Amino acid sequence: MRTLLRLWPYVRPVRARLFSAAFIAVLASCIGLVIPLVLKWMVDGPIADRDPAGVWLGALYLLLLGLAEALLFGFRRWLVARPLSHVEAEMRAGLYRHLQRLPIAFHDRWASGQLLSRATGDLALLRMFFAFPLTFLLVNGVTILVGVIIMLVQDWALGLVILVPAAPVLITCVVFEKRYSLAARQAQDQVGDLTTVVEESVLGIRIIKGFGRHRSQARAFRELSGKLRGTELHKARLLATILGIIVTLPEFAIGAALVLGAVQVADGTLSAGTLVAFLSTTLALRWPVDSIGFLLAMSQEAATATERYFEVMDAEPESGTTASAGRRDARREGGLRFENVTFRYPDAPQDSPPVLNRIDLHIRPGESLALVGATGSGKTTLTALVPRLHEVTEGRITLDGRDITEMSREELRSRVAVAFEEPTLFSATVGENVLMGGGTGEEDLERALAVAQADFAHALPQGTATQVGEQGLSLSGGQRQRLALARAVVGRPDFLVLDDPLSALDVHTEAAVEAALRRVLADTTALIVAHRPSTVLLADRVALLSGGRITAVGTHHELLRGNAEYAHLMSGDPAEELEEQR
Ligand SMILES: Nc1ncnc2c1ncn2[C@@H]1O[C@H](COP(=O)(O)OP(=O)(O)O)[C@@H](O)[C@H]1O
Ligand SMILES: [Mg+2]
Repeated sequence: MRTLLRLWPYVRPVRARLFSAAFIAVLASCIGLVIPLVLKWMVDGPIADRDPAGVWLGALYLLLLGLAEALLFGFRRWLVARPLSHVEAEMRAGLYRHLQRLPIAFHDRWASGQLLSRATGDLALLRMFFAFPLTFLLVNGVTILVGVIIMLVQDWALGLVILVPAAPVLITCVVFEKRYSLAARQAQDQVGDLTTVVEESVLGIRIIKGFGRHRSQARAFRELSGKLRGTELHKARLLATILGIIVTLPEFAIGAALVLGAVQVADGTLSAGTLVAFLSTTLALRWPVDSIGFLLAMSQEAATATERYFEVMDAEPESGTTASAGRRDARREGGLRFENVTFRYPDAPQDSPPVLNRIDLHIRPGESLALVGATGSGKTTLTALVPRLHEVTEGRITLDGRDITEMSREELRSRVAVAFEEPTLFSATVGENVLMGGGTGEEDLERALAVAQADFAHALPQGTATQVGEQGLSLSGGQRQRLALARAVVGRPDFLVLDDPLSALDVHTEAAVEAALRRVLADTTALIVAHRPSTVLLADRVALLSGGRITAVGTHHELLRGNAEYAHLMSGDPAEELEEQR
């Protein structure tokens, strides 16, 4: 209940329709309960008096009542269908918006399939819940109450007989609720796991085929889906048990009441009409009672779906600007500056050594600095701190003297452009992918493509209007890298952060990109992660990252002469590099 109440803000806008729909359903259901009373009138009146005209009249009443009931139920459906799909769409949009704002640390922790299944399956469950169990638990409750009152008024002794199973049925419902809730949660989580496997195997299809892993992948999938099947069967068994009890016990009571009533009619203490009315009321209540089992089950699933929905929605989005009370330099030094920056991944144990340890680094305005270090030394991590994909654990980073936590994210990200090792392209045209980095039109696009030596784009079937697939799979690695580079430079950013942007290029293309980049770098402050001497030479200075610290800063030639580790990294000796990674 408490979980489901959290849905209220989403339902609020459509509450008027939802309440009217529930009211109409209650009305329709109660009309159904009038039918037994008409029957009683027919049996005790026209039928007993052998009056055919009266019987026809009664039949007409019954027909009209049935018609009214059907029309009202139809009206209810019409009332709720549109607003409920609106609620579902709103919740889904809210989830998507929230996912975009959650920090990278959240996405590092969560499997994509879990997020996908919440955005699709769980929300569909919730819409069904609003449409059906939410209304009908109320409607059926009221119907049962009214029906029981009618029966007690007809004959209180028979009414009490019918009520005997109420207690055991209630107890069963409570016990069942708890167990079913656990099973429902398990099943929904397993759907999430299954979605993750499907998603990964679709994205990683090349690796799976390349290594002949399709059988083991299929086996893993079968195992997971087998588990899910087990959970679903467990749910079905629970549901079968409760349905068995909910359906059988009242049936016994009805049988007992029938015998008792028949005896009373034979004794002449009860009119035949009353017995008919009584029994048809119990029959009219059968569906409301029987359905409680699966209505409760659906509500339970909706509650776990809500829980799963809010697990994501409750995660803290990226914090905004923190009005920092920290010291502010009077000098307002320009460029990009790391001051005493320490960083530890949020999930890492507190006592583990930080990935970055008290880093001090100053890149002057217009300067470009190459960052060199062994694999796993924290270069990517360092670059991710500048656009605040991760927050520094200690220390601060300033752009032209302003702490980046004092800027709005929009401002920060419009001033800093990034290109990462893994050049992700979206399913959009080449032009759209590049212009995602800023820039306004054809001219900027052309310039950026020229800098990144991505002229191949013009040779594509529809030029820059060519759609590139999910992850740009239809392009080669080097082509994707060049488009990602174009995206980084298209908006003429003040600060450029490039994480090894040329690694997939052949020597000639690299040289051409470097020549063009040199012009861009001339008036940009840049931090470039580099592995090859040719890339390092693009930069004015080099910093060496080792053991979480900046151990040396200088020109390429200075470091080559004065620093053994640097010389060793730049020598490109594969055997030694392997040892370095250790
Ligand atoms: N998302 C993450 N969560 C926890 N640790 C991470 C994460 N990403 C990288 N690391 C760890 O941080 C260290 C530095 O990684 P990275 O910055 O990618 O190195 P580099 O780019 O220099 O090769 C590695 O030991 C890596 O295992
Ligand atoms: Mg890296």
